[in-house]
Amino acid sequence: MKILVTGGAGFVGSFLCENLHKSGYDIRIFDNYEPQVHAASHGNLGNLLQPNGLPIKGVEIVYGDTRSPTQLEAALKDVDAVVHLAAQVGVGQSMYEIHRYVDHNTVGTAVLLELLASRKHNVKKVVVASSMSIYGEGGARCSHCGDVTPTLREAEQMKLGDWEVRCPSCNRTASPIPTNELKPVLPTSIYAISKRDQEEMCLVVGRAYDIPSVALRFFNIYGPRQSLGNPYTGVAAIFSSRLLNDRAPVVFEDGNQTRDFVHVTDIVQAISLALAKDEANGQVFNVGTGRPTSIKDVANLLARKLRRDIAPQIENKFREGDVRHCYADISKIQRYLGYKPAVELETGIDDLIAWAEDQQAEDRFDLAAAELAKRGLAR
Ligand code: UD1
Repeated sequence: MKILVTGGAGFVGSFLCENLHKSGYDIRIFDNYEPQVHAASHGNLGNLLQPNGLPIKGVEIVYGDTRSPTQLEAALKDVDAVVHLAAQVGVGQSMYEIHRYVDHNTVGTAVLLELLASRKHNVKKVVVASSMSIYGEGGARCSHCGDVTPTLREAEQMKLGDWEVRCPSCNRTASPIPTNELKPVLPTSIYAISKRDQEEMCLVVGRAYDIPSVALRFFNIYGPRQSLGNPYTGVAAIFSSRLLNDRAPVVFEDGNQTRDFVHVTDIVQAISLALAKDEANGQVFNVGTGRPTSIKDVANLLARKLRRDIAPQIENKFREGDVRHCYADISKIQRYLGYKPAVELETGIDDLIAWAEDQQAEDRFDLAAAELAKRGLAR
C-alpha cells in the first residue's frame, strides 16, 4: 500500500512517514519546504535518507505545492491513501496574510479534491488534518444556565484585564469543560476558517465520491522538530527558543489561558488508526490528551527543564483570534478507534528540549510581535 503524505517533510509529517514506513507502507512525501518552517530544509527527513542523501527503499520525496494541479496529479499516481497535512499554520499571521492562508489551505485542498473527483485513481482513504481552532472558544459551563457555547470575548471586557469567557445568556463567568465534537464550530481566525474548510470539503467530497474520509481535529501539538524559528505558532517551541536565547517567554493575557498539549507521537498514533480502521470513515475526531495546561505553567515548566532562572513576561495583551480555554473530550476517538494518548506533557517536553538544545534556536518572536502590534492584532 502506498500513501501520499502532503506536508510529509514537516513536523508532524516526518514522524508520521517514519512510523508508516516502519509499519510496512510505501510513502510518497509531497512538500513545498515552506521557508518559514523549514529553516534547515530536509532536516526532518534524516531517518528516511541513505548516507548518500537519497531516500531509503519504499520512500519517495517530491517537491510540490498543493495549489498546483499538475504537481499534485503526478503525486497521486498509484497511491492508495492520502494523508493531507500540508497547510500554512499561524493564527495571528493568518489575520493579515489572508489570501496566502486561504490559497494554500482552502484552495490547495480544493485542488486535491477536484483531482480525486475527476481523475482515475486508486485512493481508498483520505485523512485530513483539521484543528481545534475551528471550535473557537472551547466548551463551557455556566453555574446558572448549564452548558453553553461562548462567543469571542469582548474587547471592552479584556481591556479591564477580565480574561475569562462569559455565558452568552446571562453574562456570568463560565468555566471550561472538555470540548467534544458536537460543540458547534465557531472559527475565530482565517487559519481556523481554512481548517474548517479543509475538514468539511474532504468529508463532503469523500461522501459524494465514496472515498472514505476522516478529519482529525488536532489540539496543540508539541515535540521535537517543531519549528523553533517560526514565531507564529507552537507556543512550546516559541518559549523554548526564547529561553535558549536567555530571554523571557512573552505570555499573552495573564497566562492562565489553557490548552491541551498533545505529543507528536500521539498524533501519529491517531493518524495511523484513522488510516487503518473503517470505523473512522466519514467521522471527525478530536485528538488531544483530555488535560488542560495553562500557558504560564508551560513557560515555567520549560524554564525549569532548560535550567533557566527566567520568569515569564506576562503581557496582559490579547492576541486577536486567540481563545481562552480549549481542551479535548477524547472519548469519541477512544471509543471508535482505541486511541490512547501515551505521553504526558511533563515527560514529553523532554523530547522537545533535548532536540531544541541541539538546534540553532533562532528567536524571531520580537519580529512577529512587532508585526502583530503594528496591525493592532495584539493589544
Ligand atoms: C492555534 C490553533 C490550533 C492550531 C495551531 C497551529 C486556536 C485556538 N488554535 O493554536 O488549532 O493547530 O494554532 O497554528 O486557534 N502564546 C503566548 N506567547 C507566545 C505564543 C503564544 O502567550 O509567544 C499563547 C497564545 O496567546 C495562546 C497560547 O499561547 O493563548 C497558544 O498559542 P499557539 O501555540 O500559537 O497555539 P494556538 O493559537 O492555541
